[in-house]
Order: sequence, then structure tokens, then C-alpha cells
Amino acid sequence: MKYRDLYKKAQEMIEYSYAPFSKFRVGAALLAKDGEVFTGCNVENSSLGGTICAERTAMVKAVSEGNREWEAVAIASSEGEAWPCGICRQFMREFVDDDFVIITGDDIEHLKTYTMNEILPEGFKL
Ligand code: THU
Repeated sequence: MKYRDLYKKAQEMIEYSYAPFSKFRVGAALLAKDGEVFTGCNVENSSLGGTICAERTAMVKAVSEGNREWEAVAIASSEGEAWPCGICRQFMREFVDDDFVIITGDDIEHLKTYTMNEILPEGFKL
């Protein structure tokens, strides 16, 4: 799948975001190496620490469906560019190679791609 199409799927997921506290609505689409796509949105909670980000939602869905081989993740938000938070960077580091691709951008015409290693060099792993 093309990264633009993956980003489109991430954009579609913004609709399902539950973000009454931050109002920062986020959608994500995770492309597995076998071509399957897992989607997610951010899900906030009154106990703010209970919030789960869009990309982690997608990744937890994939792991819980038995898929842990991933190529790329696209992230879209109602406010333009959304960068994975530190927890999400560490979370994905657990499962992906250095060249895993992270796609974000203000809109589909201005996509930015980075690798796992670029956004979390020397990541911690047991
Ligand atoms: N958020 C995501 O879902 N993904 C990101 O890449 C950045 C941040 C969410 C978490 C929270 O619901 C809201 O954005 C504000 O931090």
C-alpha cells in the first residue's frame, strides 16, 4: 500500500477519536508487512493518564490479533501534524526494525516520513 493511502486511512479514523479533554483528535493506520492494515484513534479518559494514543491503539489491535511484523504507521490529526509521543516511540520500538517508517504531515500533500531510528535513536530494549 502507498503511504498516501495509509495516511488517508489515518485521516478517516479521526472521526472515531474520543478526545473531549484535549480536543486534539488523532487517527492512525498501521501497515503490517503482510499488507494488512490496523487502524486506531486516540481514546481519552477522565483520569487523563488512562488516555491511549491513536498509534498505540492500532498497534495493540495488531498485537492482539497476532500480527507483530510491521512496515509503517501513518498518523493524522484534526490539528495537522501529529508526532508520536515518547511513550508511543518506546512502545513501537519494542516491535519494529530501525527502518520502520513513520508518516505524518499537515495534510496529504505535505507528508513527512521518518524512520524509527531517526525518531528514537539508541532506543531501549531488554
Ligand atoms: N495523541 C495521539 O493520539 N497521537 C499522537 O501522535 C500525539 C498525541 C493524542 C493523545 C491525547 O489524546 C491527545 O493527542 C493530546 O495529547
